[in-house]
Amino acid sequence: MNAFRCRICGDAYLGSQAPSHCPFCGAHWEYIVELAMYPEDINRITITEVERDDLAAAIQLETGNARFYLALGSRTDRPELASAYKRLAKIETEHCELFAKLAGTSMPREIREAGTAQGDWCASIEESEARELTAMNFYAKAALRATNDRIREVFSAISAVEADHIEVDVLLARIAGCSPNE
Ligand SMILES: [Fe+2]
Ligand SMILES: [Fe+2]
Repeated sequence: MNAFRCRICGDAYLGSQAPSHCPFCGAHWEYIVELAMYPEDINRITITEVERDDLAAAIQLETGNARFYLALGSRTDRPELASAYKRLAKIETEHCELFAKLAGTSMPREIREAGTAQGDWCASIEESEARELTAMNFYAKAALRATNDRIREVFSAISAVEADHIEVDVLLARIAGCSPNE
């Protein structure tokens, strides 16, 4: 067994080798370090007004997405699709927790309550893609605006995670039998 830690969310991973993606926040392999290499003071930072505003917007965005995924995760008609969205709800909640930690605030309590998801699976998967695209673009812009290295690192890592989620949606749309032009 070996022990690793994710530079982005700070969670530890125990396994024989480092994972390709952090199982908690989805950060890519380059952010996974050996346990002893993790800088304990990584989040001891001073942020600007702009960074504070971007973190606040990120918290709202992740809360909305986590609640949407909780709604999809509780559907019983296609358990295989629901299971994937249940996982996405956990990942977006992890993102929210990270942003709240960096902003020095707490997570909105409603993040644990399922939101609403109307329409059939194909419509929901399409909505998910739109949400992920919005998130990916917002974090990419926030990374460019950031002056703090740590904030830039986090926003750019999470932007890449949201890009991965779009790929997940494409895969799930195929499994659900949705037509690609819909
Ligand atoms: Fe992570
Ligand atoms: Fe996402």
